[in-house]
Amino acid sequence: MSLLNPRDLIDDDEAFLPAIESAWAKIVGFDAVFPNSDLTGHSRRVARNAMAIARQVGFSQRDMFELGAACLTHDLGKLDVGTSILNKPGILTDIERAEMRRHAHYGFLALRRIPDLPAVFTLVARFHHESFDGKGYEGLQGDAIPAAARIVQIADVHDALCSRRVYKPGEPEGKIICAMIRPSRSGLGRGQFDPHFLRLFAKLRLADPDFAATAPERAEIEAFVATEPGLDQVHAQRDVATHELPDVADAAPSLRL
Ligand SMILES: [Fe+2]
Ligand SMILES: [Fe+2]
Repeated sequence: MSLLNPRDLIDDDEAFLPAIESAWAKIVGFDAVFPNSDLTGHSRRVARNAMAIARQVGFSQRDMFELGAACLTHDLGKLDVGTSILNKPGILTDIERAEMRRHAHYGFLALRRIPDLPAVFTLVARFHHESFDGKGYEGLQGDAIPAAARIVQIADVHDALCSRRVYKPGEPEGKIICAMIRPSRSGLGRGQFDPHFLRLFAKLRLADPDFAATAPERAEIEAFVATEPGLDQVHAQRDVATHELPDVADAAPSLRL
């Protein structure tokens, strides 16, 4: 599989391409110094899965590619978080965790300086850690979270759980998808994700020949995929393309710098 880069997703004549390529070069350079961080691999996997969901949702090709490019820079703000925190084996302290959470805002601040950048870049960087149930970084809930960020959140959590990191081993994918679709008291579960997008993603994973799951896990995921959107109290006819995005300047005054 060829490696995904911004130039594969953005037209040559877009004025913002050099700035996004420069941001991507910083991420690649960071990984060259700290290979364990795997920011490039993570961002590329998130981009591929987010684009696959977006295609199912009905994004135009241009919107889907812009979303993919936005995924490549979704964790750009991590470069502003100290590497001692980013690559720390073991549990973060409260202060370290608070700094880690700021990466979403750091990325947003860096990207918003780029003239004429499509909004999806800043929205994805800032809101990819929102949770559908309102328990994310800035507390946005449900449809108030931009659709692009709701899609990226699913791909992001999926990859973070599947991947081996310096502080944890990777988990089998069947187990992970089951945890993502289960209503759960542990914090991870259906309520955390847009149920419509999560269903599309679970369906895509089931259809992938590389998807590994036990028979009970597969049956559980198939049952989830077969449930009606109405059961999740989601509007089946959501118009994602024209979904009104929140004003980022007003979304969380406490985080404005
Ligand atoms: Fe992130
Ligand atoms: Fe991420």
